[in-house]
Formats: sequence, structure tokens, C-alpha cells
Amino acid sequence: MNKPPRAFFSPLASGAPAPMRELPVTLERMIHFVPAHNAKLRSRVPDMAKQVDVILANLEDAIPADAKDAARAGAVEMGKSFDFASAGVGYWSRINALNSPWHLDDVTTLVGEIGDKLDVIMVPKVEGPWDIHYMDQLLALLEAKHGVKRPIMLHAILETAQGVANVEAIAGASPRMHGICLGPADLAASRKMKTTRVGGGHPGYRVLSDANADGGERASAQQDLWHYTFAKMVDACVMHGLKPMYGPFGDFDDEAACEQQFRNAYLMGCVGAWTLHPSQIAIAKRVFTPAVDEVKLAMRMIEAMPDGTGVALVDGKMLDDATWKQAKVIVDLARLVAA
Ligand code: GLV
Ligand code: MG
Repeated sequence: MNKPPRAFFSPLASGAPAPMRELPVTLERMIHFVPAHNAKLRSRVPDMAKQVDVILANLEDAIPADAKDAARAGAVEMGKSFDFASAGVGYWSRINALNSPWHLDDVTTLVGEIGDKLDVIMVPKVEGPWDIHYMDQLLALLEAKHGVKRPIMLHAILETAQGVANVEAIAGASPRMHGICLGPADLAASRKMKTTRVGGGHPGYRVLSDANADGGERASAQQDLWHYTFAKMVDACVMHGLKPMYGPFGDFDDEAACEQQFRNAYLMGCVGAWTLHPSQIAIAKRVFTPAVDEVKLAMRMIEAMPDGTGVALVDGKMLDDATWKQAKVIVDLARLVAA
């Protein structure tokens, strides 16, 4: 007997409690950031929309304090002048932090002016479930006031030590929660890490092999600064049926390091990453779309165990129910990309 089909990322597949609602099954491999005060970059939105899964109007960090009003107005203009829904592209905005002087105007203006156009509000520097409860209530009031028909979802950035400590409660704080992404720059500052980068590794964070008896050179390898946070974030997201994502990679010239950072996120369970520069779009597409060989192998594994139970051998390697489930993750994602 065939196993019942499982939804992509369904927590039901693992026996976890059902999420409060099903997320729309849609590709969000790259969240492309547009500095919303910049008219030239705004004018490229229709062209960008042909290349990316999601476009985000950025109002927070990287927008100068004296351009916050212009950015907010730019986000409204983007939502009114381009039909994201018809283009099949998500429209998100990253608002200013809850304790900033721009926050309230951001939320009231976005919901009042383009509440029906906006899919997701990205909330920076979320520290605990209370931040999400507050956003949930505020959105409910504003949506009712403005007759917004479809609830706006929330995506939290994990970028403070307190947020990481509370990530499970944040993930479960509201049925509006869409996902959580890692913000390595603010998180590094919050943790008092000694880095000055946006994502990626650090040449000083490494492990040395034991000393050689003959006094020869010792092997040394850089380690992943973000592994612990990824693992914690992915578990919290999956537990609540949310999408985990990676955030920004700041060195636009180092495409290999960007690709490796994105790939680590993909392998750990993330579904997408931010793209801050057009050169990063192709990288995100490549990384967060399963490779042809990966899909072919996964399909052979599923064919070798059509009912998903028992044991089989593919290329000399043992499969059982658990490997069947792993292969299904890859095949389901490939089907989503192909749809
Ligand atoms: C993103 O906002 C970050 O702080 O890395
Ligand atoms: Mg940040």
C-alpha cells in the first residue's frame, strides 16, 4: 500500500503537533531586498520580479534615518504600482524595530495603504513571543479598520541573543508566523562576537589538529560560526510548521563564500536566503533548488521502496523508512520547483 502523500514541510510527517494553520506551499528561495527610498532601484521591480520568488521593500537598517519617510512611501508605491500577485511573486516589507521612532508609522501606513497587497511583514530584532503577540494584535486592529481581507503574515529575524534563547516560543507565538531567518550581523553584535562581517566565517575561528610528533605542519580548518543557531532555529520552525531561512551575506565580491553560506543553510533545512545584490539571485536559485543528480538519486531511492517501508539497497547503501523520508523531502521540493 502506498504511503499517503505528504505536504512539503509538513510537521505531521514527523508526528509533531499540527500547526495552527497550513502555510501556503510556495517557493521562497530568495527574498530580494529593495531599499525602498531608492527610486532607481524601485523602477527595476518589474524586471526583478521575473527573476526572484519574493521582493521585499526594506525600511530598516541600511536605510538612512533621514530617508525613513521616503522608504515608507516607496514601499507603498511599490505595492500600488506593481501587481505582485499576478506576477506570482511575493511582496514583503521589513519594518523598523519595535522600539524605533519609525515603527508605528511603518505598520499603520503599510496596512492602511497596501494591506491587501502585502504578504508578509518581516520584523527585526524579535526578542520573545511578546513582540509577536503585540504585532499580532496591532495587525488585527489595523486589518479590521481597513477591511483587509487576508491576514498579513509575520517573519521574525533572529538577531539577538535573547531572541535565540526564546526562539521556540517566538515560533509558536501566533498563527500569523510565516518563518524565521537568521540575521548574523546584529546577532554577532548582540552576542559580543568579535567580527565585523555580515554572515560567513572568520579566518580566526578554527580548529588545529593535534601536534605532529615529527614537528611537521599541523592541519587547521575554519569552523562554522552559525551552526548552533541554525540548528536551534530550524528545529523551532519545523516544530511549528514555519519556514526557516538564512539572512544576508555582505561580501558581494565573494560569491564562493556566499554560495557556501547559503548551501550550509539549505543542507541544515532552510528553504531560502536574502539576496541583497543581483549577483546573489542566481546563487540562491542554484542552492535552494535541488540539483538534478540529487533528485535523480532520491527518485531511485523512492522507487526502490515504493511503499516507504522495509529495507532496500541503492548503490550499495542501505535504505529504510527514514531514508525514504529524506529522499521524499528532496523529491517534494523538486516537484514544487517544477510546478
Ligand atoms: C540582518 O539584519 C543582520 O543583522 O544580519
Ligand atoms: Mg539586522
